[in-house]
Amino acid sequence: MSKQVEKRIEKLRDKIREHDYKYYVLFEPTISDLEYDKLVKELEKLEEENPDFVTPDSPTQRVGKDLTKHFKPVQHIIPMLSLANTYNADELYDFDRRVRDGLPKGEKVEYVVEFKIDGASVSLRYVDGYLKTGATRGDGIVGEEITNNVKTIRSIPLKLKKHYSIPYSLSDFEVRGEIFMKINDFFTLNKEREKRGEKLFANPRNFAAGSLKMQDPQIVASRKLNIFVYNIISLKENFDFHFENLKILQRLGFNVNNEYKLCKNLDEVLKYYEDLETKRSSLEFEVDGAVVKVNSLRQQKILGSIAKSPRWAVAFKFKAKQAITKLNKIIWQVGRIGTITPVAELEPVFLAGSTISRATLHNIDEIKRKDIREGDKVIIEKGGDVIPKVVSVVLNERSKNIKAPKPPDKCPVCGSIIFKPENEVAYYCENTECPAQVRGRLEHFSARGAMDIEGLGEALINLFVNINFLRTYADIYDLKNQREELINIERLGEKSVDNLLTAIEASKKQPFPKVLFALGIRYVGVGAAKKLADHFLSIDKLMQASEEEITAVHEIGPSISKSVKKFFSDKHNIDIINRLKKQGLVFESERMVVKGNFFTDKTFVITGTLENFSREEVGDKIVAYGGKVTSSVSSKTDYLLVGENAGSKLNKAKSLGVKTLSEKDFIKELDKLK
Ligand code: IVH
Repeated sequence: MSKQVEKRIEKLRDKIREHDYKYYVLFEPTISDLEYDKLVKELEKLEEENPDFVTPDSPTQRVGKDLTKHFKPVQHIIPMLSLANTYNADELYDFDRRVRDGLPKGEKVEYVVEFKIDGASVSLRYVDGYLKTGATRGDGIVGEEITNNVKTIRSIPLKLKKHYSIPYSLSDFEVRGEIFMKINDFFTLNKEREKRGEKLFANPRNFAAGSLKMQDPQIVASRKLNIFVYNIISLKENFDFHFENLKILQRLGFNVNNEYKLCKNLDEVLKYYEDLETKRSSLEFEVDGAVVKVNSLRQQKILGSIAKSPRWAVAFKFKAKQAITKLNKIIWQVGRIGTITPVAELEPVFLAGSTISRATLHNIDEIKRKDIREGDKVIIEKGGDVIPKVVSVVLNERSKNIKAPKPPDKCPVCGSIIFKPENEVAYYCENTECPAQVRGRLEHFSARGAMDIEGLGEALINLFVNINFLRTYADIYDLKNQREELINIERLGEKSVDNLLTAIEASKKQPFPKVLFALGIRYVGVGAAKKLADHFLSIDKLMQASEEEITAVHEIGPSISKSVKKFFSDKHNIDIINRLKKQGLVFESERMVVKGNFFTDKTFVITGTLENFSREEVGDKIVAYGGKVTSSVSSKTDYLLVGENAGSKLNKAKSLGVKTLSEKDFIKELDKLK
C-alpha cells in the first residue's frame, strides 16, 4: 500500500513540476487552473496523511510556515562581481581592445550579448539536482541566506530536470540570476496600494530586492516575482562556452531570457545591441542595458577580474528614457532637516510606464546652470529610479518675457529665516518646528526600514500634524490615549484607528539599529545606524561617547560623528528619547551571541506544544545563541525539542537516533547562560 502511495506522490510531484515549468517558465500552460489545483490538492492530501513522505523539494513545500528570523551568511563559491559600465560604441571598442590585449596574440574572441535585467541578483546552489540554498549578493563575497524566500518563486526549480545529454555531472553548482517583477504587475500592485492609502514602492527593482529580504516567506509567495538566470558556476567541472551554458541552463529547467546572441565580432555586437534597444519598449520587464561577455570560459579565466568587476564582461547601458513636456511651476519643498529643494511641476506626461507630473531640480545652482524657467518646454528623463529629473530646456521653444526663477528669501512653508551653509548648495529653513520639517521627521520615523508603522503614512501624518495630535515622535505612542477623539475624526473609522494603534504598539519591538535610524539624525542612514548600534550596543553608551570614539568606529566618518554629537546635545531630543524609553522602545542591542555554548552550531527541530514559550520565542532564543532551527527531522538534526502531544517527528527522531530534549532541559540550558 505505502509503496503505491509513494509512487502516486512522486507522480503527482513530477506532473506539478512539469506544469509549473510550462506556466512559469515557458508561459504556455497546457492544463486549466482547475485541473492544476486538483493535482495540488490531491498531493497535499496524500502528504498530510503520510507526513514521512514529505520531502523539501515537493511543490507543496514552496511556502514553509517558519518565519526567517535572521538571515545567515553564505559564502559564494566564487565572488558575485558587478559589471563596469560603458555608454557608447567608443567605450565598447576600448573594452574589446583591452580584452585582446589580455589574451595571447591573435586569438579570436567571440562575445555573447544579453539583456541586462534590472532586478535583484541571487545565487542559487544546487546539490545533487536539488535546490539547497538561495542567497543575496551581499558584499559579493558573503551573501545572506534567503532559501525560504526563493523557494516561493515558481520559476525557480526545486528539483532539476534530468538531462542525460549534458556531458558532465552537475553534483554541486551555483546559478546566478536576476529576480524581477513584471512592469504591469508592479503597477497593478502600486495602484492597489494607492487605493488603500499605503506607501508606494519606488520601482520594480527595489520591490524585488525588498521582497527577497522579507522575514515571512508567505508574503514573498504572494508577490509575483520571477527569475532570469544568466550564469552557472561550478568548481568541479570545466565548462567551455558561456553560450552553451545558457542552453544547458534552459534544458535544466531554468528561465533564461530568450534574447541572447553569439556575436563573432564587435560590429555584430553593436548591431545586436541596437536590436535589443529597439525591443526594450515592448518588454514586460525592466532592463537597463545589454551585457557583453567573452564567450570562451578559458579566455574568461585568462582575463580574470579587477577589484569588483571582471575583465571579460561589460555592461553597455541603454540611453535613459526621455520625454518632452511643459514645466508649469517651480515649487520649493522643505525636507525633514530643513533642506529647501526646488521641484518642477510638470504638465503630466507618460514615460516608461508611469505618468509623471513632478521632477526634481536638485538645487538653485542646477537651475541656473541649465537655465530652467517656469513655462519652459523641458526634456525629462527617467533613469533607474522613479524620481525623474529635468535634463535640459528646449530653448528654441521658449516664449519671450519669461524670467529666471529666484530662490525664496524665506521658508516657503513657515516663513522663517533661511540660510545657506558655506560649501553647500542648498538653503535651509532654520526653524526646527516648521510644519514641513515636523511632517518630514514623522514620515521618516514611521517609514519602512525605520519603525515601520503600517498605515501611518504621509496623509495621516499631515492630518494629525494639522490638528495638533502629533508634533514629536513620542506623541505617536500617546495616540492610544486619544482613541475616542481619533474615531470621531471624519474618514477614520473605529477599525482603522484600532489597526493603526495596533501597528504603533507593534513597532515598539523594532530592534535598536532601526530605532536609531528612525531618530533621523543627519547623515545616519540605515548602514551607519547599524554600525553604531553594533558598536555601542545601547543609546546611553552612544550618548556618552566622544566624537573621537564615534569616528573610531569602522566606516564612520567625522561628519556622522559631529552630527550625532550635535543631535544628543539638544535637550529637546533628549526629552523625546526619554519619553520613547518610557514608552517601551528598544534602545539596546540584543544580547551578543555567547560563542561556544550548548546551542552554538547545533540544529534543532521543535515538535508539539511548549508550555512556556511560543515556537517563535524558542526559535529566537536558539538563533540568538548561535543555533539553527529547521522544520523536519533528518540525520543532520542534533536535538528534537519535544513539547506536549508530539507528532510523527518524535518517531522519526527515534528511528534516526536523534537526541531529544524536554522543555525542562531546554530551560536548564538557557539558565546556564544567564
Ligand atoms: S553577468 C561578473 N548577466 O547586473 C558577471 N549580470 O552590474 C556579472 N545583471 O550583479 C553578472 N542581467 O545582478 C550578468 N545578463 C546578465 C545580467 C546581469 C542583470 C546584473 C547582475 C549583476 C549586475 C552587474
